[in-house]
Amino acid sequence: MIQAKIAEILESDQFLQEFIVKGWVRSFRSNRFIALNDGSTLKNLQCVIDFENTNEEILKRINTGAAISVKGTLKESQGSQQRVEIEVTEIKILGDANPEEVKYTILSPKKHSLEKLREQAHLRVRTNTFGAVMRLRSKLSFAVHKYFQEKNFHYVNTPIITGSDAEGAGEMFRVTTLDMKNPPKNDDGSINFKEDFFGKETNLTVSGQLEAEAFALGLGQVYTFGPTFRAENSNTSRHLAEFWMIEPEVAFCDLDGNMDLAEDFIKYVLRYIMENCKDDLEFLAERQANEDKLKPKAERSEMGLLEKINFVLDNNFKRVSYTEAIEILKNSKPNKKKKFNYIIEEWGADLQSEHERFLVEKHFKCPVIIFDYPAKIKAFYMRLNEDEKTVRAMDILFPGIGEIVGGSQREERLDVLKSKMKELDIPEEELWWYLDTRKFGTCVHSGFGLGFERLVQFATGMGNIRDVIPFPRTPQNAEF
Ligand code: 4AD
Ligand code: MG
Repeated sequence: MIQAKIAEILESDQFLQEFIVKGWVRSFRSNRFIALNDGSTLKNLQCVIDFENTNEEILKRINTGAAISVKGTLKESQGSQQRVEIEVTEIKILGDANPEEVKYTILSPKKHSLEKLREQAHLRVRTNTFGAVMRLRSKLSFAVHKYFQEKNFHYVNTPIITGSDAEGAGEMFRVTTLDMKNPPKNDDGSINFKEDFFGKETNLTVSGQLEAEAFALGLGQVYTFGPTFRAENSNTSRHLAEFWMIEPEVAFCDLDGNMDLAEDFIKYVLRYIMENCKDDLEFLAERQANEDKLKPKAERSEMGLLEKINFVLDNNFKRVSYTEAIEILKNSKPNKKKKFNYIIEEWGADLQSEHERFLVEKHFKCPVIIFDYPAKIKAFYMRLNEDEKTVRAMDILFPGIGEIVGGSQREERLDVLKSKMKELDIPEEELWWYLDTRKFGTCVHSGFGLGFERLVQFATGMGNIRDVIPFPRTPQNAEF
């Protein structure tokens, strides 16, 4: 007797072999055919019951949503929908699902909106769409580790609670054990954080980069892959308050090497899922195509999901400097006709997502890497160029997503870094340890951060970032 996963049974040709399978009933028709799913694959296993010899009480309990255990033999299927099926000899109900209650949930067999699925996030993993997305997410994470491990990068776990604001953007969640109603005060009335758990102000990390840099300057090449937190109040389809970021950091590597690494890495993980997640990808491609049919022509994607992934795999990312990008935008139709919400007037303007999407989707029509941004709109740690106006930064922009990667060559010169921090009012005492890395054997080094959920969005074609993470955290929402 073999206890097996449905994914294995569907590939098996051990006919007449007895199997035990456990899973959840998707449907039960004609008192005879159970469509069983156990999460191992998108596909259901058809389990055929000899209802005349099955207890009436049991038959009544084979309802959509119920957990069951089935024992039976593998047969070639008579039906055209599947190659094999299980001829059931024994069936056990492990967990009932009352049809009267199931009918009010997303388990009921009809089409539910993604919004509805989000309201029942604890059940949505039982749906085809969400199951496919989550299996793909898992495979993508595996590919991330596989890529870096094969390239001899070391995986580092950077702290989740930190005392520094790595991005200098101030969008942090505070971590404290002080009594909020009655916090200890200093003489001047301000809160006395010396009495807090860590004896100082702390927050959830916005990025593991600074710690990753310290590790790269010793282990050579490292990567992080962990949760990061941003208290930015942006309720968009691309922002989460808690998201997962992959941050490689490489010693003795300049910005060109950094761009090469990012491009190679993204192509590797996408190739991996194309080779290993065929069923789920095909299902999601079809899903997207069907959704597209309901949209007005102008909003439809020009390519299907698989075509879009292949397009990224087959083409070089277009590399343009910020200065070139601004020229293109300044002279673009939507800018001249004032169609952009933010009109690009001059060099130095920050790029909004509408501009990024114009460059990627309308102008270049392929992934774009923009580099050498104005120092003024980028973080303090980026390496200043000879022109003293721009920094060695790069952002990778993806069709349908916008920014997927942000990275840079780091400022390795102690004096330049110090004066930059001074300019931005970042106290040296807070980052003394970071400055130390520039004192003892500093060197050229670079890294980037890739927002994992944005990658999953691209790979699955899901329009909303809330649908590619198990339990999304967004403004006004921390249910589940
Ligand atoms: O561009 P960001 O802010 O860069 C950093 O944090 C650097 N410290 C990374 C580094 O160089 N090591 O964020 C990096 C990426 C973005 O390009 C985006 O893909 C993603 O993280 N990201 C978000 N994803 C989901 N929700 C949010 N609120 C995000 N903010 C950034
Ligand atoms: Mg960024």
